[in-house]
Amino acid sequence: MTELSQALRAIGSSVDELLGRLIPMPEGPEGQLLDAMRYSALAGGKRLRPFLVVSSADVFNVPQSYALRVAAAIEMVHAYSLVHDDLPCMDDDDMRRGRPTVHIKYNEATAVLTGDALLTLAFEVIADDETHPEPAVRAELVAMLAKRAGSHGMVGGQMIDLLAEHESLDAGEITRLQQLKTGALIAFSCEAGAILGRADKPERHALLAYAHDLGLAFQIADDLLDYEGDASVVGKAVGKDLEAGKATLVSILGADQARIQAEMLADQAVRHLDLFGKKADSLREIADFVVNRSS
Ligand code: IPE
Ligand code: IPE
Ligand code: MG
Ligand code: MG
Ligand code: MG
Repeated sequence: MTELSQALRAIGSSVDELLGRLIPMPEGPEGQLLDAMRYSALAGGKRLRPFLVVSSADVFNVPQSYALRVAAAIEMVHAYSLVHDDLPCMDDDDMRRGRPTVHIKYNEATAVLTGDALLTLAFEVIADDETHPEPAVRAELVAMLAKRAGSHGMVGGQMIDLLAEHESLDAGEITRLQQLKTGALIAFSCEAGAILGRADKPERHALLAYAHDLGLAFQIADDLLDYEGDASVVGKAVGKDLEAGKATLVSILGADQARIQAEMLADQAVRHLDLFGKKADSLREIADFVVNRSS
């Protein structure tokens, strides 16, 4: 196993353990909701966003116990976005992370509520003083997460993405939609490290520029997996974007050009990290993984 996959696995298991403690055990009349929250948030996944939070916080020597709480929170928001993304009114998917999606396992109403509850719990976790002793830092994290997850962030991107099934978008429009639907939570993950670490402006700009390019590369890789991946390895249905007539960089540039674009963006992402020296090595390594992954 490479050092990177070991590091991903280690952060993944720390986040799993914390998510297991933060999401209440199913009991009482709302037990089904809690069960579905645990089902969707504790179902594996690459844990890329937690890796980015912890690695960017490491650049500023932030205690890992703070970073892990933010990592758990962003993973809750990510899990919520997937539960809603899979609903019949959106992408209508039956499989996620190799298992039935939440609306298939439970029902649609439970899936809607599961997403709602994961999103709100994420804010509760960040606002708690265990996340950082300084209230101003917690408030900044809350405000940034709201912005990145909201109507000019992930949710706005999801809206444009649905419209993209019926409209032909150009490369610039597709790039903006992908920057929002996927890039925004990746941006938060890197910005969170800078907020926790009280980074100065040039450092924040560098991390945000890195996250911007990485997020775009990540979504092109996701679109390539949808186009040419193997469902049993990817853990979700493939061929969906083509079937839905969705505008992606793969659909307008072709797979080869899209891959070149993703690789170029990953190289460019790493260049923004020069001012951090060796402290940013984990962030450098993950950029390569993002474009060369098979799931
Ligand atoms: C899938 O995200 C949804 C997108 C934003 C493309 P991931 O590929 O990070 O999903 P998991 O967490 O590993 O399952
Ligand atoms: C989903 O993009 C992005 C969010 C959930 C915000 P996709 O619809 O391409 O993700 P997958 O392919 O279903 O994981
Ligand atoms: Mg979608
Ligand atoms: Mg989808
Ligand atoms: Mg996809």
